[in-house]
Amino acid sequence: MKKTILCIGAGYVGGPTMAVIADQCPDYKVIVVDMNAERIAAWNSDELPIYEPGLDEVVRRARGRNLFFSTDVSSGIKEAGIIFVSVNTPTKTFGDGAGKAANLQYWEKTARDIVEHSGHDKIVVEKSTLPVRTAEAMHRILMANTKGLNFEVISNPEFMAEGTAISDLQNPDRVLIGAMETPTGQKALQEIIDIYSNWVPRERIKTTNVWSSELSKLVSNAMLAQRISSVNSISALCEQTDANIVDVSAAMGADSRIGSKFLRASVGFGGSCFKKDILNLVYLCEFYGLPEVAEYWEQVVKINDYQAKRFVKNIAARMFNTVADKRIAVFGFAFKADTGDTRESPAIAVSHLLLEEHAELAIYDPKALDEAKKDMKDAQGKIEYIDDPYEAVKGAHAIALLTEWKEFTEYDYVKIFELMEKPAFIFDGRNILDHKKLFEIGFNVYPIGQAAMSHLN
Ligand code: NAD
Ligand code: UGA
Repeated sequence: MKKTILCIGAGYVGGPTMAVIADQCPDYKVIVVDMNAERIAAWNSDELPIYEPGLDEVVRRARGRNLFFSTDVSSGIKEAGIIFVSVNTPTKTFGDGAGKAANLQYWEKTARDIVEHSGHDKIVVEKSTLPVRTAEAMHRILMANTKGLNFEVISNPEFMAEGTAISDLQNPDRVLIGAMETPTGQKALQEIIDIYSNWVPRERIKTTNVWSSELSKLVSNAMLAQRISSVNSISALCEQTDANIVDVSAAMGADSRIGSKFLRASVGFGGSCFKKDILNLVYLCEFYGLPEVAEYWEQVVKINDYQAKRFVKNIAARMFNTVADKRIAVFGFAFKADTGDTRESPAIAVSHLLLEEHAELAIYDPKALDEAKKDMKDAQGKIEYIDDPYEAVKGAHAIALLTEWKEFTEYDYVKIFELMEKPAFIFDGRNILDHKKLFEIGFNVYPIGQAAMSHLN
């Protein structure tokens, strides 16, 4: 093997990223370690810990050949020359900056582990999403070692999205690598370029200084989320004016300066990163004395919260101002389609708000039912978790569609209509259903940012 790469953190990013690197670079040995033994056992089994289209095949090809999953963090550190750190960096829930700043405790622990177990110089690569200038702190901790070792810190943020992680990793729009502008920093940069050059065209490998790289990741997520909040804010105006958000998005998106992606109105964005990364950006702006900038970005999160609340308010208003004791089938709990991940899913907020109104929930999701149970375990009220959508709608007054799973568009809605209480309501929080057809079947249909189709007035 040419070199040994270690990744600390075998989560949604560490696992798929390293599997693709191992698959594309057969002459590198890739070890992925995690302190969570259960997760590592799953990576070594036939039942991988995360669902991601295409992941099984990639892991099957490389595992045992040049891809290894282990709980032995210290041996991995000793052996590797390049260490990717892909641990979680959630929003801080305590102390100064609680609710906004990133909690870097897991991050710092890895730096200390690296110092403790290293016996030779290493390149440490920030794969996690981090506040700008984190590399400075990382470098200080690493260089405080008393063994005379040198560490180069590189920023290489990850831009993959869940549900498309493997194709994003195999064919990225860009790979971003930030390095210190010193001779040793530039040498380390070349080593990371060498890895990606195995499959990524050179012109898509962008290099910057470390700070631009760290900040570009936060801002990329903030910009994507900002587009969704912008469109969602306008969806509210569409509902008041008979404009149609789908047409408005298409018209805007046809302008090549705007572009068509990420303009889909929805019940709100979810996922483990958008909210946390924007709040982190807000915190950084406040920290650097830029309150106007902080306020600007904070509004993106506020509109997202507003959209979920607006969705539930609309449900109650349309259903004769009460959902108390009414069964509502929740179609989809994952934060987006093609993933079992429910972190920050709008379904969590919507479900809680519906329960506050004393609705009874029948939750169905093709991949995320177990996660839904965990998310809602402390919720007060009546919730059933049902693995058959036709069972979930039995006796329901309404369907609240919250995830854009393709299978929701393929159901037999005539049968579903028969199984439901009447009048039957559908609230399409993702605008994916054939609204006209549903209306003709007899449903009262309420999309996002489009005229309602109701038999009731
Ligand atoms: P995750 O929670 O799924 O995985 C992190 C893993 O790190 C966990 O399994 C945890 O046990 C492990 N870990 C934490 N501290 C450790 C330590 N000291 N030693 C060994 N293992 C340790 O998180 P994730 O979704 O993979 O995200 C990781 C980072 O990547 C975050 O900064 C996130 O913002 C960023 N990111 C995530 C995505 C995504 O789609 N999920 C995409 C791009 C970037
Ligand atoms: C997002 C980014 O797209 C990735 O580039 C980034 O690497 C990642 O965050 C991260 O840093 O974690 P992800 O959250 O996995 O990826 O999924 P997205 O496809 O971005 O969707 C996020 C949310 O926005 C989902 O709830 C999705 O349904 C919603 N969305 C997306 C909309 O409501 N409308 C859209 O037009 C697009």
